[in-house]
Amino acid sequence: NQRPRALSGIQPTAGSFHLGNYLGAIRQYVDLQETHDAYYMVVDLHAITVPQDPATLRANTRLAAAQLLAAGLDPERCTLFIQSHVPEHAQLAWVMNCLTGFGEASRMTQFKDKSARQGADRTTVGLFTYPILQVADILLYQADAVPVGEDQRQHIELTRDLAERFNTQFGPTFTVPAPHIVREVAKIYDLQDPTAKMSKSAPSPKGLVNLLDDPKASAKKFRSAVTDTDTVIRFDEENKPGVSNLLTIHSALTGTGIPELEERYTGKGYGALKTDLADIFVAWVTPFRERTQAYLDDPETLDSVLAKGAEKARSVAAETLAAAYDRIGF
Ligand code: ADP
Ligand code: NA
Repeated sequence: NQRPRALSGIQPTAGSFHLGNYLGAIRQYVDLQETHDAYYMVVDLHAITVPQDPATLRANTRLAAAQLLAAGLDPERCTLFIQSHVPEHAQLAWVMNCLTGFGEASRMTQFKDKSARQGADRTTVGLFTYPILQVADILLYQADAVPVGEDQRQHIELTRDLAERFNTQFGPTFTVPAPHIVREVAKIYDLQDPTAKMSKSAPSPKGLVNLLDDPKASAKKFRSAVTDTDTVIRFDEENKPGVSNLLTIHSALTGTGIPELEERYTGKGYGALKTDLADIFVAWVTPFRERTQAYLDDPETLDSVLAKGAEKARSVAAETLAAAYDRIGF
């Protein structure tokens, strides 16, 4: 296979993915299937770095896989698997832990933010070494491209540093990956606070659009989205973040360019844009939810897709791990 290889992981933590996850990440996964030898995993090992409930984790991991398939990942065209089904991730992570400086790991801003929010006593060492597990995730597949958001840039830099360090110290073993900069990754903002990124940890559930929520409730959230006191529908992220966010979502879901939307809504009020967007979202999400449910209703098919994915992933991961083990003297 001569295609460049892509690798990305997504957490199963929240159960339902939200619209930001879909437009900012999952849709790129679907596109990359066409151009890359793509590996996608549900990162359940990462999910246990914070307190978790086993039954919930098990259910959410399957739910995440079902949603990825419903969103358009095709097991014939990519490799979809569950991280814990491939033990090489934890094995290579240990090796990478032993190559990482304590100070170097301490500089990871995402850890600093998360641990500050949780407090030191509730923060696990697993959360501290989370970026190093991520390094192993990427290097195991010799990934060329890693489609991630801006917030992951520092972790990709760490991956590049550790790959180069290993290669220099023990001989060429790992591909040094580049972050995959997608031309136009939509960044989606909270519908109630359009200056904050839409996030599963949103302060108010009214601003968060979960894909598996009742579509009627989501439609209501679009109709009551916070905008501004002006009346003109124009893309201006600085002065009109709410309207700009609605235009971004509209454009991403319909494929209509933003200038064309601005023209279409000339002389119309915010209410028209919000109502249209509510309808567009419901029309998209309804079949998405049905496809997700169909996978959940057919556990044998889902198990078989995930077992095949794990087998394919393991064949690549085991080869890389064996080479790395050999180089370091095991
Ligand atoms: P959250 O921010 O809700 O905790 P995650 O950190 O689990 O979401 O993100 C999973 C993926 O979705 C990442 O690739 C991330 O960049 C992307 N993503 C999350 N929120 C948004 C958003 N509001 N807009 C665009 N992409 C997003
Ligand atoms: Na996050």
